[in-house]
Amino acid sequence: MAETKQQSKQINEHGYRSFKLGGFGFERDEYFAHIKWPGGGGHIVAVDRFLRALIRDVAWNFFYGIVNFDEVFGTVNHYGTVAVFAGLYNSAYRERKRDHVETFSSDQTRTLFEAMLDDWTNEGYDPFAAPTETGTPFGQKHGNNREAIKRTRVTARRMVGLKDDSPLRTDANGYKPNRQFEDVNQSEPEVHAEPGFENEVHAFNFFGYLSRSDVTWNPSVTAVVKDSLLCPTTEEFMLPVIHGNDRCEWFVQLSDEIHWEVSDRDTGAPRARLVMKAGDVAAMPADIRHQGFSPKRSMLLVWENADGTLPEQYASGKLRPNPVDF
Ligand code: PHB
Ligand code: FE
Repeated sequence: MAETKQQSKQINEHGYRSFKLGGFGFERDEYFAHIKWPGGGGHIVAVDRFLRALIRDVAWNFFYGIVNFDEVFGTVNHYGTVAVFAGLYNSAYRERKRDHVETFSSDQTRTLFEAMLDDWTNEGYDPFAAPTETGTPFGQKHGNNREAIKRTRVTARRMVGLKDDSPLRTDANGYKPNRQFEDVNQSEPEVHAEPGFENEVHAFNFFGYLSRSDVTWNPSVTAVVKDSLLCPTTEEFMLPVIHGNDRCEWFVQLSDEIHWEVSDRDTGAPRARLVMKAGDVAAMPADIRHQGFSPKRSMLLVWENADGTLPEQYASGKLRPNPVDF
């Protein structure tokens, strides 16, 4: 640990710290993140792409299943531990036995990723924002953007807007409607609960709430019933990770449109392309990876099942990967 600390304090000629996690080494220069691993492996990723993926992997606590930063590097969530890999889900790397994977505690990995995100994010750049709504990540190290990178993800206990739960978004608490959602009706429903049920009966303007999201590709837990999580999100440009599922996910396109590329989870072989328009519903199977492309800001409802036994049930074949046959 002492060695890791010492190495991570080194500052290169561009002003950035270098980081080590087990055998993995991470460096950045003006334009790129450079990743190295034992056995001579090396990989280069444009730093905007790397930071957009990194902030989500941190904020989502490694999400469900696999977060591919790109075709080579990523993480697999084992819920308590995390596998950090290079080439593990790339058939060319696998066939030539050039893949590399190491498993760490989730806390250790998140702490290191947070430090890297903090050091590598320059003043004026917000990796959660749409590219046209933020500054540039490139260049020599200058300043930081702690306010942007320390944002926590909305995770309602029951439903946003309830007493003692995650608050609604308003002008007053700093969430104005996004430039592309200025036409969204902002009126709130009237709720008339019977006495004694004021904390049980609740409603809010879901479209109004979403129109005020200041981040992209960041599903927030907005309503919870046992393991059923409604995770709406606003999308613009491209999903910064290629998500490999360990369970099924349902998508409901609430506005505008998203193009999805769907591939085999393990090899990356293409399986489907779909264009989801407002009102379309898709069931994403448990054995795929997917990446979405949203030409203008759109609203997407991601419906997740948080049942912790699902990954094992799919992996063992007890459950079929597709939740529905048409
Ligand atoms: C997904 O991988 O299912 C996903 C992630 C982030 C989003 C939308 C979908 O914003
Ligand atoms: Fe997904």
